[in-house]
Amino acid sequence: MTAGTVMAGVNAFGSEASSASEKDNAIGPEAVPIQLTINGVLKEVSVEPRETLADTLRDHLHLTGTKVACNRGSCSSCTVLLDGVPVNSCMISALDAVGRDVSTIESLASNGELHPLQQAFIDHDASQCGFCTPGMLMSCAHLLQTNPHPTFEEVKRAISGNLCRCGTHPHIFKAVLEVADKQKRK
Ligand code: FES
Ligand code: FES
Repeated sequence: MTAGTVMAGVNAFGSEASSASEKDNAIGPEAVPIQLTINGVLKEVSVEPRETLADTLRDHLHLTGTKVACNRGSCSSCTVLLDGVPVNSCMISALDAVGRDVSTIESLASNGELHPLQQAFIDHDASQCGFCTPGMLMSCAHLLQTNPHPTFEEVKRAISGNLCRCGTHPHIFKAVLEVADKQKRK
């Protein structure tokens, strides 16, 4: 077989073409109803299978704290926690989040009180345009959950994927280390 030709019944990736029954079981392209657990609350939403978790949060559930900047997995502005692990929500389909716990920036403050990291970001002027800030905060919150007393290098590594074109990283390092230091002295 020459390059560019496709054998009958085999697709370009070498696997068997979908059978009729597989096609019958395929969902979409129309919207399908799903349930997502967002910040501990079960939400019902109708999404097209092509929709990302980030777009579902923002456009269907009106949780606009999660920001979409690059929309291709390069900047981590859209970071949320999926089963407690930071992920780029622009790279996850909403369907893949079914049955898993999603935590967004809206979960950080509680009972009207800012999370200590949010307060430290304010105190250290660690946000300028603010576009990267929710993603930064989610990555930093995960760091302090898993490593309450990080070193400077560990803070740097934890947010190495979170891009900030306003250059706030030095302020963020100070904010995170201050919160870690306060936790240590408690
Ligand atoms: S918006 Fe998701 S990684 Fe940039
Ligand atoms: S504060 Fe503007 S991109 Fe980070």
